[in-house]
Amino acid sequence: MNLTSPLVEAKIMLYVCPMSLLLAIESSCDDTGASVIRDGEILSNVVASQSVHEAWGGVVPELASRAHQQQIVPVVHAALEQAHVSLKQLEGIAFTAHPGLIGSLLVGSSYAKSLAQVLQIPLMAINHMEAHVLALFIGTNKPIFPFICLTVSGGHTQLVLMKGPFDSEILGETLDDAAGEAFDKGAKMLGLPYPGGPLIDRLAQSGNPKAFEFARPDIPGLNFSFSGLKTSLLYFLRDQEAQQPGFTQTHLNDICASYQFAIIRHILDKTRKAMKETGIKQLGIAGGVAANKGLREALQHLSSEKKYALFVPEMAYCTDNAAMIAMAAHFKFEAKQFVNLEISPSARYSL
Ligand code: KG4
Ligand code: ZN
Repeated sequence: MNLTSPLVEAKIMLYVCPMSLLLAIESSCDDTGASVIRDGEILSNVVASQSVHEAWGGVVPELASRAHQQQIVPVVHAALEQAHVSLKQLEGIAFTAHPGLIGSLLVGSSYAKSLAQVLQIPLMAINHMEAHVLALFIGTNKPIFPFICLTVSGGHTQLVLMKGPFDSEILGETLDDAAGEAFDKGAKMLGLPYPGGPLIDRLAQSGNPKAFEFARPDIPGLNFSFSGLKTSLLYFLRDQEAQQPGFTQTHLNDICASYQFAIIRHILDKTRKAMKETGIKQLGIAGGVAANKGLREALQHLSSEKKYALFVPEMAYCTDNAAMIAMAAHFKFEAKQFVNLEISPSARYSL
């Protein structure tokens, strides 16, 4: 059954020229976001983070869905207001369709579908991970296809060969935990609240990265593994605390710096290898962990040494946000890749 109405189809036919004013919605995990984009330029980017999970040490899916339900209307209104755009002016609407928490995705997708139907405008379904990479196209310094992207988030760690906006090949990915999980689980062992990545990053800045040695994962090819590293931190803390109670607290900055160093070293080992094997000279980084100061500095250093062009999104476009969904929507709109109202979101990487 095709649920695209004749009016929407007529409007789609009119889009020969890629002028566009689009609204994008992000609700894949624990951030409710809305963004307005005009012809590839971000006009607004509103994100409401959910503090409700802090007490639980991780994201509680049901609480996330309910918080999205509460936040989505005010967040969309704020995004439209900041962009000085009314609902009636919109020419398309996009939402994160996958991967993510299914209850959270359903809130954004249902809202986007309703708006698309009421406004009779095309609907676009966005892959959250592709959108993280396409955030590299926000601003003036953009990569040119093909390029390699290191995507490091709370749920994924991938080295991707980007051949076009929606044409990518995964060269390597994590076999167990994601880089963000290594940060968050490590932080939990250190008694730090969720999400621990930004806290480890901050504490590491006044610690010694060479103070302690953690495991260096030995995984063939371009895949990653962070679970051994996490276990090595667990045993290290257990042994040190047995010898010297209170060790973790008194050496917190050095432990954070050394643990972060071990995570970055593994990421760098694989990135260097991917660049060498493909011969590509452009490297982008994406995802929440791309906000890590130590990782950004290490990649700057590697890129200037190896003469790669490095593309790093602004901090606000690294962690989950709707501007990256809007940028992906811009490419979808240009390619006229629309979906009908039967579309259903998926927790998985592919729909
Ligand atoms: O991309 P993102 O916002 O959400 C997912 O799609 O997963 O990534 C969230 C992850 C969390 O694990 C968080 O701890 C980590 O990114 N993160 C950081 C930093 N900022 C966020 N990890 C290390 N250093 C940071 N500055
Ligand atoms: Zn993400």
